[in-house]
Amino acid sequence: MATYRRLLGYAARHPWWALAGLFGMVFDAAVAAVFVRLIQPMLDTLFIERNPQTIFWMPLLIVGLFLIRGVATFLADYGLARIGRNVVETLRGEVFSRYLLLPTRHYDHEPSGQMISRLTYTVEQVAHASTNAIKVMVLDSLTVIGMIAVMLYFSARLTLLLFVMAPLIALVAWAVGRRYRRISGKIQRSVGSVTGVVDEAVSGQRVVKVYQGQAAERERFNEINERNRKLNLKIAATNAMSTSVVQVVAACALALVIFFATRPSMITTMSPGAFMSLITAMLTMLPSLKRLTSVQAMMQRGVAAAADLFHIIDMPGETDTGSHEATHCRGELELREVVLHYPGQARAALDGVSLHCAPGTVTALVGRSGSGKSSLASLIPRFYEPDSGSILLDGVPLQEWTLRSLRSQIAWVGQQVVLFNDSIAHNIAFGGLAGATEQQIEAAADAANAMEFIRQLPEGLASQTGEGGTLLSGGQRQRIAIARALLKNAPLLILDEATSALDTESERLIQDALGRLLQNRTVLVIAHRLSTIEHADQIVVMDAGRIVERGTHRELLALDGHYAALHRVQFSEDVAASPASA
Ligand SMILES: Nc1ncnc2c1ncn2[C@@H]1O[C@H](COP(=O)(O)OP(=O)(O)O)[C@@H](O)[C@H]1O
Ligand SMILES: [Mg+2]
Repeated sequence: MATYRRLLGYAARHPWWALAGLFGMVFDAAVAAVFVRLIQPMLDTLFIERNPQTIFWMPLLIVGLFLIRGVATFLADYGLARIGRNVVETLRGEVFSRYLLLPTRHYDHEPSGQMISRLTYTVEQVAHASTNAIKVMVLDSLTVIGMIAVMLYFSARLTLLLFVMAPLIALVAWAVGRRYRRISGKIQRSVGSVTGVVDEAVSGQRVVKVYQGQAAERERFNEINERNRKLNLKIAATNAMSTSVVQVVAACALALVIFFATRPSMITTMSPGAFMSLITAMLTMLPSLKRLTSVQAMMQRGVAAAADLFHIIDMPGETDTGSHEATHCRGELELREVVLHYPGQARAALDGVSLHCAPGTVTALVGRSGSGKSSLASLIPRFYEPDSGSILLDGVPLQEWTLRSLRSQIAWVGQQVVLFNDSIAHNIAFGGLAGATEQQIEAAADAANAMEFIRQLPEGLASQTGEGGTLLSGGQRQRIAIARALLKNAPLLILDEATSALDTESERLIQDALGRLLQNRTVLVIAHRLSTIEHADQIVVMDAGRIVERGTHRELLALDGHYAALHRVQFSEDVAASPASA
């Protein structure tokens, strides 16, 4: 009920169109009633009496009436559509804005198909409810009332017979509503699954091809597709059933009306025209009655959809309660006994990690995959909140910073490069960097060793990257992401395997550039290739969520522990690989 009122609130933001629509519906129904009422004089006066005045006026009256009805219908349909489309636009905007603010954990759990179909399908359901259902409720109710008025005018006694139908029709409406409620939520989810499977099959098309996943994908899709069809057919069956039942019930009522109207006591008091008017009123009422039986269900479908949207709109965004701000921090980073436990995961991803990064130093994180390096890095921009322990930047706990200010201190190149379907220049100068000049962009691209390939593209910096950067090679994408980070020129730089897709030569070039650029900056670098981090101020070796060793390259080699072992393995690989690559 609260959802319903809230949804009406959205529609109420367009009072003039609501008024126009209401006005239109009132006139629409009124004209229909007047017309049905006119059937009596049409028959009795035109055909039986052959009254010349009526013969002259009747056609004009009919054209006039339907001119009014034309305007009324337009106002009703357009007014409601206008409200419906506006509500869709507003809701879509609100849900999308909320998506942008949701914590990373939400994205881990809700399938992207559901998130997309919420904006495409669910929102349309709401529009349907807020226009069609309201139209049925108002226009068809008014039509029924108008027709009952016409019937009452001719014969109160016969009209009473109608009320025999009432309880039966109410029963149908109730049954339909109950069924709808059960099915519509399922349909909504099945549409989400359809979207999700398509999304995966399309973005993973190469894997599908090489591993011959076509059959499996098709089967997965068919299953969902069929489920969707079955659910929709259930709705259709419910609808069709209610139509037939209402029709049969109405026919019985009609039979009763005819039966009583033709009794000797009645037949003398009623003209053929009056009887025809009465019957037409009943028949005109039928489709409206039929729609009214399912309107509650239609409404419920919309309300259920709206509830889902409101649930997202009301979700708390990332916690941002801090008030500390700084334009340029010193870059002193400290972790104290940090524990991070992902929900549903057996063991903690970070298990009591303490780390100090002095301003302007480079800290390298190394360790086996799954040891928690990326998890550690993702705590700094507060993608996740630690379960216990604290993280301080410049001595201020991260939660006390405003998210905006905290993130403006950080440049970040993640393990998976994210490029937007736009030009290279816009990808480098993304978001808050949009004001950068062409020279600045070029300098950043140069430092990231990216200008070299960008120059060879036909449109240079203006070249498109394709969706997700598909038009570029992995290494090229990484260099653009690095250029983006360099352009940001932030006091904290996080590189999570940022150069993993580059050849040793490019990587070394970038290292050199970085070496020059990274002065006065605190850097957290996660590297796979140990040769790139030998000069780091401190190297931290992680294993199973804990720090097992720390020190400089020399110290760790001398220690002859994990790091030395990793180093030996990689060194022998390099030696083995170098003659081949030379
Ligand atoms: N978003 C997530 N949700 C749940 N578990 C995760 C998530 N990200 C990583 N993990 C788990 O946390 C552990 C550490 O992962 P990660 O920090 O990515 O390791 P690394 O970067 O060192 O390879 C792994 O066991 C992984 O399965
Ligand atoms: Mg990682």
